[in-house]
Amino acid sequence: MAADSANEPEGISRKSFMKAALVAAPIPLLLGATPLARAAVEKGEPLEPTPFCGDSGGNTPPQIEGPYFKPSSPLRSTLPGSGTLLTVSGYVFGVNCVPLANVLLDFWQADANGNYDMQGYTFRGHQFTDANGAYRLTTIVPGLYPGRTRHIHVKAQAPNKPILTTQLYFPGEPRNNTDTIYDPRLLMNVRANGNGREATFDFVLNVVGTPPTSPGPTPTPPPSSPTPTPPPGGGTWQAGTTYQAGATVTYGGVTYRCLQGHTALVGWEPPNVPALWQRV
Ligand SMILES: [Fe+2]
Repeated sequence: MAADSANEPEGISRKSFMKAALVAAPIPLLLGATPLARAAVEKGEPLEPTPFCGDSGGNTPPQIEGPYFKPSSPLRSTLPGSGTLLTVSGYVFGVNCVPLANVLLDFWQADANGNYDMQGYTFRGHQFTDANGAYRLTTIVPGLYPGRTRHIHVKAQAPNKPILTTQLYFPGEPRNNTDTIYDPRLLMNVRANGNGREATFDFVLNVVGTPPTSPGPTPTPPPSSPTPTPPPGGGTWQAGTTYQAGATVTYGGVTYRCLQGHTALVGWEPPNVPALWQRV
């Protein structure tokens, strides 16, 4: 696998700061700005006192799906597997800069060797933005494969709205100059984090969000969020429980030991997340 590059994040723009400020709950400041906002700042364009997410060049642009999408990915925000650890986090906004909750984000990518898993669901998973419109993906830096620069595929869909299919890119990649699909508006901010990488990206969907100060409609439950089901054969593992490293549970008649502390989620059942649970 070719060495990937890691650029320091660019400074936060006033526009992104204001967008972040729209999010009611106390949240970490965005590490980077949306490409659209950064482009406006770099070009010296004036920023409106009340920003609109689509006013500097449009929404997050679509990209081709490519040949490797598979439906019905697992509900999980951690995609376990070998490689250089990568986190991707950010927010999903509507065109009016309101953060969007319950947005489905379905990620798929190549493994460290540039191969897609077409038999199973390795490096595939979907999640939903939280009440603040935030998401966080834990995965690895995808490998390169012939004809393409380094990228991550994603489908984004606000409840009952059209799907945006697009791809996210890494700065400083030599193949960014030759890949005809590559779009600099889809560049993530990426920086080194220990031996891993930490990336940020904000999506802007062609959806008008309800400002958080208004009594908005009751959020629609995620359409494909699975209902917790008891493990076959019984077990002590439970979604919503906080487990410390070393704790043991049973699931489907098998005992597992927790490898790293976490709060269990549906989709993180022990057989599904070897990074979290080891069979005893
Ligand atoms: Fe791809």
